[in-house]
Amino acid sequence: MSESMKRPQVTLIEGDGIGPEITAATLEAVAAAGGAIDWHPATAGMAAAERHGDPLPAATVESIKRHKVALKGPLGTPIGAGFRSVNVALRQQFDLYANVRPAVTIPGVPSRYTGVDIVMIRENTEDLYAGIEHYVDPRRSAAESIAIITRYGSERIIEYAFQYARRHGRKRVTLVHKANILKLSNGLFLDTGREVAKRYPDIAFDDMIVDATAMKLVIAPERFDMIVTMNLFGDILSDLIAGLVGGLGVAPGANIGDGGCAIFEAVHGTAPDIAGRGVANPTAMMLTAAMLLDHVEQGAAASRLRRGLHAALANAETRTGDLGGKLGTADFTKAVIAAMT
Ligand SMILES: NC(=O)c1ccc[n+]([C@@H]2O[C@H](COP(=O)([O-])OP(=O)(O)OC[C@H]3O[C@@H](n4cnc5c(N)ncnc54)[C@H](O)[C@@H]3O)[C@@H](O)[C@H]2O)c1
Repeated sequence: MSESMKRPQVTLIEGDGIGPEITAATLEAVAAAGGAIDWHPATAGMAAAERHGDPLPAATVESIKRHKVALKGPLGTPIGAGFRSVNVALRQQFDLYANVRPAVTIPGVPSRYTGVDIVMIRENTEDLYAGIEHYVDPRRSAAESIAIITRYGSERIIEYAFQYARRHGRKRVTLVHKANILKLSNGLFLDTGREVAKRYPDIAFDDMIVDATAMKLVIAPERFDMIVTMNLFGDILSDLIAGLVGGLGVAPGANIGDGGCAIFEAVHGTAPDIAGRGVANPTAMMLTAAMLLDHVEQGAAASRLRRGLHAALANAETRTGDLGGKLGTADFTKAVIAAMT
């Protein structure tokens, strides 16, 4: 079946702040790149709290359940009792255990480095973020947070990393840990990694201690291909690798679960300081949409979208203000579309 004959059904949450602006720009660019998707709008975040009194309405959850794939703009979390983070709630509800964060050098985007091309696969549900925390004494003078690492959780995230490597022609997976000190929990993750790696003789595997990884990433990031790690280290290192290629303005991401369930979102927030002014940079959201197009097997449209973006960003005349250019969201989008080949 040709790409154009498949029309995946995708839930669309435009988000708060700059969300509606960058989402509109992204849909335009996806269509121009040949992406054939039926979008199903749904609300979440501040917009949903104001309209429905709930930042994650049941209809939105139902829509994602039905379509399995969503593109999501940034969400503000309403302040007040009873409002939990929508992003965390979605991750839990759909058991989106793999956080995928690619970081690729884009010529023209200001950065200290060239030649960076790293994909970070972060475990999204366990570790110190499993939510097990309490005070250990009645005076609340000490607290503990417990890191849970399971063989099940480790195996599925490491498997995911190797499968991703195969699908995307990646050559090496580096497992990052602190098993020299955290011998049981991190030792379990490392041992599981060594077992899983045996099933993928075509892909190189090594492991590295997290502190050494942080140093090597800033000295020679071009030596890394893919990294798989636990929740806490992944949280920190994925922002680090975004910093190697120009920061959050160009950082796409995806949260993936089993059975093709996936929510795609740019890493940055709602940027309330520039919302509604038509100056937001839609690059991260467009790169996120390119990941979504890959996911729904519209790789040609994904490549076309990336080529347009890279060409527009390479030209100083066609960058947005945050990257030193003069264009607003709409004109930048036109430049991206004009540069598609
Ligand atoms: N995934 C999400 O839904 C998500 C992620 C992070 C923050 N947030 C929320 O966003 C709100 C603001 O958070 P913040 O200020 O810490 O981070 P932010 O990413 O929204 O903004 C940080 C800075 O980067 C700029 N910026 C961000 N995205 C940009 C873009 N696309 N183009 C141009 N400039 C851009 C902003 O103008 C601001 O100066 C908070 O309510 C936070 O909870 C949501």
